[in-house]
Amino acid sequence: MQNAFGNPQQVLLLGGTSDIGLAIVHAFDRSALRRVVLACREVAKGEAKAQELRSDSLQVDVVEFHAEAVASTQAAIDAIADSVGDIDVAIVAFAQLGDSTVTTTDAAAAAALAVVDFGAAVAATVAVGNRMRAQGHGSIVVLSSVAGERVRMANPVYGGAKAGLDGFAQGYGDAIAADGVHVMIVRPGFVHSQMTTGKDAAPFATTPDAVAKIVVAGLRSRRRMVWAPKILRPVFSALRHVPGPLWRRLPLS
Ligand SMILES: NC(=O)c1ccc[n+]([C@@H]2O[C@H](COP(=O)([O-])OP(=O)(O)OC[C@H]3O[C@@H](n4cnc5c(N)ncnc54)[C@H](OP(=O)(O)O)[C@@H]3O)[C@@H](O)[C@H]2O)c1
Repeated sequence: MQNAFGNPQQVLLLGGTSDIGLAIVHAFDRSALRRVVLACREVAKGEAKAQELRSDSLQVDVVEFHAEAVASTQAAIDAIADSVGDIDVAIVAFAQLGDSTVTTTDAAAAAALAVVDFGAAVAATVAVGNRMRAQGHGSIVVLSSVAGERVRMANPVYGGAKAGLDGFAQGYGDAIAADGVHVMIVRPGFVHSQMTTGKDAAPFATTPDAVAKIVVAGLRSRRRMVWAPKILRPVFSALRHVPGPLWRRLPLS
Protein backbone atom coordinates (compact mmCIF):
# COMPACT_ATOMS: atom_id res chain seq x y z
CA MET A 1 0.00 0.00 0.00
CA GLN A 2 1.10 3.59 -0.53
CA ASN A 3 2.07 5.16 2.78
CA ALA A 4 0.00 7.84 4.52
CA PHE A 5 1.69 10.54 2.40
CA GLY A 6 0.79 8.86 -0.89
CA ASN A 7 4.31 7.59 -1.60
CA PRO A 8 4.65 4.09 -3.08
CA GLN A 9 6.13 1.29 -1.00
CA GLN A 10 6.20 -1.48 -3.60
CA VAL A 11 7.17 -0.81 -7.21
CA LEU A 12 7.46 -3.03 -10.28
CA LEU A 13 9.62 -1.88 -13.19
CA LEU A 14 8.95 -3.82 -16.41
CA GLY A 15 12.08 -3.20 -18.45
CA GLY A 16 14.14 -3.25 -15.28
CA THR A 17 17.28 -1.81 -16.89
CA SER A 18 15.51 1.14 -18.55
CA ASP A 19 17.28 4.43 -17.85
CA ILE A 20 14.00 6.33 -17.63
CA GLY A 21 12.34 3.59 -15.57
CA LEU A 22 15.24 3.46 -13.09
CA ALA A 23 15.32 7.25 -12.82
CA ILE A 24 11.63 7.13 -11.86
CA VAL A 25 12.33 4.50 -9.18
CA HIS A 26 15.23 6.61 -7.84
CA ALA A 27 12.94 9.67 -7.73
CA PHE A 28 10.40 8.06 -5.39
CA ASP A 29 10.61 8.98 -1.69
CA ARG A 30 13.25 6.57 -0.38
CA SER A 31 11.90 6.70 3.16
CA ALA A 32 8.64 5.12 1.92
CA LEU A 33 10.01 2.62 -0.61
CA ARG A 34 10.28 -0.94 0.77
CA ARG A 35 10.46 -3.27 -2.23
CA VAL A 36 11.32 -2.89 -5.91
CA VAL A 37 11.16 -5.61 -8.55
CA LEU A 38 13.23 -5.13 -11.71
CA ALA A 39 11.82 -7.35 -14.46
CA CYS A 40 14.59 -7.68 -17.07
CA ARG A 41 15.46 -9.77 -20.07
CA GLU A 42 19.10 -9.92 -18.86
CA VAL A 43 19.25 -10.75 -15.18
CA ALA A 44 22.96 -9.93 -14.82
CA LYS A 45 22.40 -6.44 -16.25
CA GLY A 46 19.42 -5.98 -13.91
CA GLU A 47 21.47 -7.17 -10.94
CA ALA A 48 24.04 -4.41 -11.57
CA LYS A 49 21.21 -1.83 -11.52
CA ALA A 50 19.72 -3.43 -8.41
CA GLN A 51 23.01 -2.93 -6.53
CA GLU A 52 22.75 0.82 -7.10
CA LEU A 53 19.30 0.86 -5.50
CA ARG A 54 19.55 -1.60 -2.59
CA SER A 55 19.83 -0.38 0.97
CA ASP A 56 19.10 -1.76 4.46
CA SER A 57 15.51 -0.61 4.14
CA LEU A 58 14.97 -1.35 0.45
CA GLN A 59 14.75 -4.88 -0.94
CA VAL A 60 15.39 -5.07 -4.69
CA ASP A 61 14.65 -8.28 -6.60
CA VAL A 62 15.59 -9.02 -10.19
CA VAL A 63 13.39 -11.39 -12.18
CA GLU A 64 13.77 -12.59 -15.73
CA PHE A 65 11.12 -11.15 -18.05
CA HIS A 66 10.86 -11.41 -21.81
CA ALA A 67 8.17 -8.99 -22.90
CA GLU A 68 7.56 -10.61 -26.28
CA ALA A 69 6.49 -13.88 -24.60
CA VAL A 70 2.94 -12.55 -24.34
CA ALA A 71 1.32 -15.94 -23.72
CA SER A 72 3.10 -16.07 -20.36
CA THR A 73 2.87 -12.40 -19.38
CA GLN A 74 -0.03 -12.88 -16.96
CA ALA A 75 1.74 -15.82 -15.30
CA ALA A 76 4.94 -13.75 -14.98
CA ILE A 77 3.09 -10.84 -13.38
CA ASP A 78 1.10 -13.16 -11.12
CA ALA A 79 4.33 -14.81 -9.90
CA ILE A 80 5.79 -11.40 -9.04
CA ALA A 81 2.62 -10.17 -7.32
CA ASP A 82 2.24 -13.44 -5.39
CA SER A 83 5.73 -12.99 -3.98
CA VAL A 84 5.61 -9.20 -3.38
CA GLY A 85 2.00 -8.61 -2.38
CA ASP A 86 0.29 -5.39 -3.43
CA ILE A 87 2.04 -3.44 -6.19
CA ASP A 88 1.57 0.31 -5.67
CA VAL A 89 3.17 1.46 -8.92
CA ALA A 90 4.04 -0.53 -12.03
CA ILE A 91 6.08 1.13 -14.76
CA VAL A 92 5.76 -0.26 -18.29
CA ALA A 93 9.11 0.95 -19.61
CA PHE A 94 10.37 -1.71 -22.00
CA ALA A 95 10.63 -0.91 -25.70
CA GLN A 96 13.06 -0.94 -28.59
CA LEU A 97 13.65 1.72 -31.23
CA GLY A 98 14.58 -0.83 -33.85
CA ASP A 99 16.45 -0.12 -37.05
CA SER A 100 14.06 1.68 -39.35
CA THR A 101 15.95 0.72 -42.49
CA VAL A 102 15.21 -2.91 -41.54
CA THR A 103 11.70 -2.54 -40.09
CA THR A 104 10.44 -0.63 -43.14
CA THR A 105 11.62 -3.38 -45.50
CA ASP A 106 11.51 -6.66 -43.56
CA ALA A 107 7.96 -7.66 -42.70
CA ALA A 108 8.96 -10.12 -39.97
CA ALA A 109 11.28 -7.60 -38.31
CA ALA A 110 8.53 -4.97 -38.46
CA ALA A 111 6.07 -7.32 -36.78
CA ALA A 112 8.60 -8.36 -34.12
CA LEU A 113 9.21 -4.73 -33.16
CA ALA A 114 5.48 -4.00 -33.12
CA VAL A 115 4.95 -7.00 -30.83
CA VAL A 116 7.43 -5.69 -28.24
CA ASP A 117 6.48 -2.01 -28.43
CA PHE A 118 2.72 -2.47 -28.74
CA GLY A 119 1.39 -5.99 -28.18
CA ALA A 120 3.66 -6.84 -25.27
CA ALA A 121 3.15 -3.45 -23.63
CA VAL A 122 -0.63 -3.92 -23.89
CA ALA A 123 -0.32 -7.44 -22.44
CA ALA A 124 1.83 -6.22 -19.55
CA THR A 125 -0.54 -3.35 -18.78
CA VAL A 126 -3.58 -5.64 -18.77
CA ALA A 127 -1.79 -8.27 -16.66
CA VAL A 128 -0.76 -5.68 -14.07
CA GLY A 129 -4.19 -4.06 -14.29
CA ASN A 130 -5.84 -7.38 -13.42
CA ARG A 131 -3.80 -7.62 -10.23
CA MET A 132 -4.39 -3.98 -9.31
CA ARG A 133 -8.15 -4.29 -9.89
CA ALA A 134 -8.17 -7.27 -7.53
CA GLN A 135 -6.20 -5.36 -4.89
CA GLY A 136 -8.40 -2.27 -5.43
CA HIS A 137 -5.63 0.29 -5.90
CA GLY A 138 -2.42 1.07 -7.77
CA SER A 139 -0.96 3.19 -10.55
CA ILE A 140 0.35 2.01 -13.92
CA VAL A 141 2.83 4.30 -15.66
CA VAL A 142 2.84 3.68 -19.42
CA LEU A 143 5.84 5.04 -21.31
CA SER A 144 4.40 6.34 -24.54
CA SER A 145 6.26 8.92 -26.67
CA VAL A 146 5.73 12.06 -28.71
CA ALA A 147 6.71 9.73 -31.58
CA GLY A 148 3.15 8.39 -31.37
CA GLU A 149 1.55 11.84 -31.40
CA ARG A 150 2.67 12.45 -34.99
CA VAL A 151 4.35 9.39 -36.46
CA ARG A 152 7.57 10.26 -38.27
CA MET A 153 8.74 8.69 -41.51
CA ALA A 154 12.11 8.25 -39.80
CA ASN A 155 10.72 5.40 -37.65
CA PRO A 156 7.12 4.50 -38.51
CA VAL A 157 6.98 1.09 -36.79
CA TYR A 158 8.18 2.47 -33.44
CA GLY A 159 5.98 5.57 -33.80
CA GLY A 160 2.98 3.56 -34.92
CA ALA A 161 3.37 1.16 -32.00
CA LYS A 162 3.58 4.09 -29.56
CA ALA A 163 0.47 5.66 -31.15
CA GLY A 164 -1.38 2.39 -30.61
CA LEU A 165 -0.10 1.99 -27.06
CA ASP A 166 -1.00 5.57 -26.17
CA GLY A 167 -4.55 5.16 -27.50
CA PHE A 168 -4.97 1.82 -25.74
CA ALA A 169 -3.73 3.25 -22.43
CA GLN A 170 -6.20 6.15 -22.62
CA GLY A 171 -9.19 3.87 -23.13
CA TYR A 172 -7.99 1.19 -20.73
CA GLY A 173 -7.28 3.80 -18.05
CA ASP A 174 -10.84 5.06 -18.36
CA ALA A 175 -12.16 1.48 -18.23
CA ILE A 176 -10.43 0.57 -14.97
CA ALA A 177 -10.56 3.90 -13.14
CA ALA A 178 -13.76 2.84 -11.38
CA ASP A 179 -11.85 -0.11 -9.86
CA GLY A 180 -9.45 2.29 -8.14
CA VAL A 181 -6.60 1.84 -10.62
CA HIS A 182 -4.86 4.88 -12.07
CA VAL A 183 -3.22 4.70 -15.50
CA MET A 184 -0.83 7.54 -16.33
CA ILE A 185 0.56 7.98 -19.84
CA VAL A 186 3.98 9.59 -20.19
CA ARG A 187 4.87 11.30 -23.46
CA PRO A 188 8.58 12.10 -23.45
CA GLY A 189 10.38 13.77 -26.32
CA PHE A 190 14.03 12.93 -26.96
CA VAL A 191 15.63 11.61 -23.77
CA HIS A 192 19.36 10.96 -23.40
CA SER A 193 19.35 7.25 -22.52
CA GLN A 194 20.69 3.88 -23.69
CA MET A 195 17.97 3.96 -26.34
CA THR A 196 19.20 7.16 -27.97
CA THR A 197 22.95 6.72 -27.54
CA GLY A 198 24.74 7.92 -30.68
CA LYS A 199 21.66 9.67 -32.08
CA ASP A 200 21.42 13.41 -32.73
CA ALA A 201 19.40 15.08 -30.01
CA ALA A 202 16.02 16.51 -31.06
CA PRO A 203 14.81 19.95 -29.92
CA PHE A 204 13.82 20.07 -26.23
CA ALA A 205 15.95 16.99 -25.46
CA THR A 206 15.87 16.07 -21.81
CA THR A 207 17.27 13.61 -19.26
CA PRO A 208 15.82 10.55 -17.49
CA ASP A 209 15.98 12.44 -14.16
CA ALA A 210 13.96 15.34 -15.55
CA VAL A 211 11.35 12.91 -16.92
CA ALA A 212 11.27 11.13 -13.57
CA LYS A 213 10.47 14.34 -11.68
CA ILE A 214 7.51 14.98 -13.99
CA VAL A 215 6.31 11.39 -13.55
CA VAL A 216 6.48 11.46 -9.75
CA ALA A 217 4.64 14.80 -9.63
CA GLY A 218 2.04 13.45 -12.07
CA LEU A 219 1.46 10.34 -9.96
CA ARG A 220 0.94 12.45 -6.85
CA SER A 221 -1.76 14.51 -8.57
CA ARG A 222 -3.16 11.43 -10.35
CA ARG A 223 -2.69 12.95 -13.79
CA ARG A 224 -4.01 11.04 -16.79
CA MET A 225 -1.14 12.13 -19.02
CA VAL A 226 2.13 14.01 -18.66
CA TRP A 227 4.53 15.39 -21.26
CA ALA A 228 8.27 15.59 -20.70
CA PRO A 229 9.25 18.37 -21.02
CA LYS A 230 5.90 20.15 -20.67
CA ILE A 231 6.59 22.47 -23.62
CA LEU A 232 6.10 19.51 -25.96
CA ARG A 233 2.36 19.57 -25.38
CA PRO A 234 1.78 22.91 -27.19
CA VAL A 235 4.52 22.10 -29.70
CA PHE A 236 2.82 18.85 -30.72
CA SER A 237 -0.64 20.44 -30.64
CA ALA A 238 0.68 22.58 -33.49
CA LEU A 239 2.72 19.86 -35.23
CA ARG A 240 -0.16 17.40 -35.42
CA HIS A 241 -2.05 19.87 -37.61
CA VAL A 242 0.78 20.53 -40.07
CA PRO A 243 -0.47 19.37 -43.51
CA GLY A 244 1.04 16.05 -44.64
CA PRO A 245 2.96 17.34 -47.69
CA LEU A 246 4.62 20.02 -45.54
CA TRP A 247 5.26 17.64 -42.60
CA ARG A 248 7.09 15.28 -44.96
CA ARG A 249 9.56 18.03 -45.82
CA LEU A 250 10.30 19.05 -42.22
CA PRO A 251 13.65 17.84 -40.84
CA LEU A 252 11.68 16.59 -37.79
CA SER A 253 9.65 14.05 -39.74
N1 LIG B 1 14.85 7.66 -24.72
C1 LIG B 1 13.95 8.36 -25.39
O1 LIG B 1 14.27 9.33 -26.12
C2 LIG B 1 12.49 8.04 -25.23
C3 LIG B 1 11.56 8.99 -25.71
C4 LIG B 1 10.21 8.72 -25.61
C5 LIG B 1 9.78 7.54 -25.03
N2 LIG B 1 10.70 6.65 -24.58
C6 LIG B 1 10.19 5.40 -24.02
O2 LIG B 1 10.56 5.30 -22.67
C7 LIG B 1 10.73 3.93 -22.33
C8 LIG B 1 12.07 3.73 -21.66
O3 LIG B 1 13.07 4.07 -22.59
P1 LIG B 1 14.57 4.39 -22.13
O4 LIG B 1 14.93 5.67 -22.74
O5 LIG B 1 14.71 4.20 -20.67
O6 LIG B 1 15.35 3.27 -22.95
P2 LIG B 1 16.27 2.07 -22.45
O7 LIG B 1 17.17 2.51 -21.35
O8 LIG B 1 16.86 1.51 -23.69
O9 LIG B 1 15.21 1.06 -21.84
C9 LIG B 1 14.46 0.16 -22.62
C10 LIG B 1 14.23 -1.08 -21.80
O10 LIG B 1 13.46 -2.03 -22.51
C11 LIG B 1 14.04 -3.31 -22.29
N3 LIG B 1 13.62 -4.24 -23.31
C12 LIG B 1 13.71 -4.11 -24.65
N4 LIG B 1 13.18 -5.17 -25.26
C13 LIG B 1 12.73 -6.01 -24.27
C14 LIG B 1 12.09 -7.27 -24.26
N5 LIG B 1 11.80 -7.91 -25.39
N6 LIG B 1 11.77 -7.81 -23.06
C15 LIG B 1 12.06 -7.18 -21.92
N7 LIG B 1 12.66 -5.99 -21.86
C16 LIG B 1 13.00 -5.41 -23.03
C17 LIG B 1 15.54 -3.02 -22.31
O11 LIG B 1 16.29 -4.10 -21.83
P3 LIG B 1 17.87 -4.20 -22.16
O12 LIG B 1 18.57 -3.27 -21.18
O13 LIG B 1 18.17 -5.63 -21.91
O14 LIG B 1 18.07 -3.78 -23.58
C18 LIG B 1 15.54 -1.79 -21.38
O15 LIG B 1 15.39 -2.19 -20.05
C19 LIG B 1 10.52 3.13 -23.61
O16 LIG B 1 9.18 2.69 -23.68
C20 LIG B 1 10.76 4.18 -24.69
O17 LIG B 1 10.08 3.86 -25.89
C21 LIG B 1 12.03 6.87 -24.65
